[in-house]
Amino acid sequence: MDKYLINGGRKLSGKIKVQSAKNAVLPIMAGAILTDEQVVIKNCPKIKDVQSMLNILSYLGCVWHFEDDNLILNANGADKYTVPKELANELRSSIFMLGALICRFKKAQISFPGGCDIGLRPIDLHLSALEKLGVKINSFDNSFFCFANEIVGNNIYLDFPSVGATENIILASVLAKGKTQIFNAAKEPEIVDLMNFLNSMGAKIYGAGTSTILIEGVNKLHGTEYMPISDRIECGTFLLATAITGGEIELNNCNAKNISVLLHKLCDNTCKITINNDIIYIKSGLVSKSFSFSTGPYPFFPTDLQAQTMALLSVCDGESVAIENIFEKRFAHVSALALMGANITVNGKRAFISGVKRLKGANVCANDLRGGAALVLAGLNAEGQTTVNNIAHIERGYFELDKKLSSLGADIKKIN
Ligand code: EPZ
Repeated sequence: MDKYLINGGRKLSGKIKVQSAKNAVLPIMAGAILTDEQVVIKNCPKIKDVQSMLNILSYLGCVWHFEDDNLILNANGADKYTVPKELANELRSSIFMLGALICRFKKAQISFPGGCDIGLRPIDLHLSALEKLGVKINSFDNSFFCFANEIVGNNIYLDFPSVGATENIILASVLAKGKTQIFNAAKEPEIVDLMNFLNSMGAKIYGAGTSTILIEGVNKLHGTEYMPISDRIECGTFLLATAITGGEIELNNCNAKNISVLLHKLCDNTCKITINNDIIYIKSGLVSKSFSFSTGPYPFFPTDLQAQTMALLSVCDGESVAIENIFEKRFAHVSALALMGANITVNGKRAFISGVKRLKGANVCANDLRGGAALVLAGLNAEGQTTVNNIAHIERGYFELDKKLSSLGADIKKIN
């Protein structure tokens, strides 16, 4: 099992380029099967979740290859509508194949998706939405067989602004008969990116980024070349890595608007931040003042930065509270941070943090993607050596995180 060995205490400095957004690229890859023509996803991160999605697309009969960082896909030969359990279990995003396969074949068979162990993560909102579009669903042994004579547009109200359910409805209804409106839709930037990608293929989608999205069904989609948005969570992770090490770095290929809630908090933390188009420059402050935050659907504080932010707050002056409102089991990193000397008490969805001067190196385990990233940030700060085990979780969403951090002066090595 691969691990990271980190010797803490180095201030990060230098420049890095932020990757394209994992959570935009994955639904976009599902959307690529909605045309028989070539689709190019530019600057595609070669992360494990992308590879898992490519394994599914290959199984379905799609062909693909990389030209440098550009992923060239063709679904002309796609002739299967079943996603095997072992492939679906690899990642949460396999669920997007449900909407895309129903849209293309009017039938789909898939088992419950995998993904980070951060809560129950039901798919009831996905399934009830698809039924509203005329899809019949038979479930058995944790798998779902779905079929429809015709996909017919409808009005769908989401009880919760679920990112995945919003994206699945869009994927299922772009070729439907008539119009679909999603009310209480999720507003994440990755949904706007999915809309822009599908519209570049000839779809008629309006309103992504607001809580009401309109999809007018069209007859056919054509190929496209598309550059996904920057990964706001990778960007935030590097901003927090700079703050926790007292460094100063320049991040390229950023979209500051998509991460403004964290930028404001880091200014409270006395970081100096300047923005110039797609460049964010951050210099950590001399004093690291604590702040509290509460996660919520976009544009509130992103749950995907909760763990990494908690790592920073563990070494800030003063008390703070982190409230996790999205996932019921997203504090798995707390025990490992405590092993490194952090002073954190969890009570329900609240984590009460009392900052310490500095963390201590320890032998810790990643339990999930973002919790694992938090342990890396803690190791960058800690006195002595930290071993982060089970880094396969981290490599699902960060491409060569060790190399990027080393290029900024961190002492981090990947060993197996
Ligand atoms: C997406 O997950 C992201 N994953 C997650 O990022 C992110 O944390 C999450 O959105 C919230 O922003 C991808 O885009 C691949 P949700 P998703 O549906 O779609 C409940 C990362 O680290 N819910 O918005 O699964 C659910 O249990 C990953 O990159 C239902 O109850 O998130 C959760 O409490 C982790 N029924 C809440 O809604 C449903 O049918 C938010 O889930 C669906 C969701």
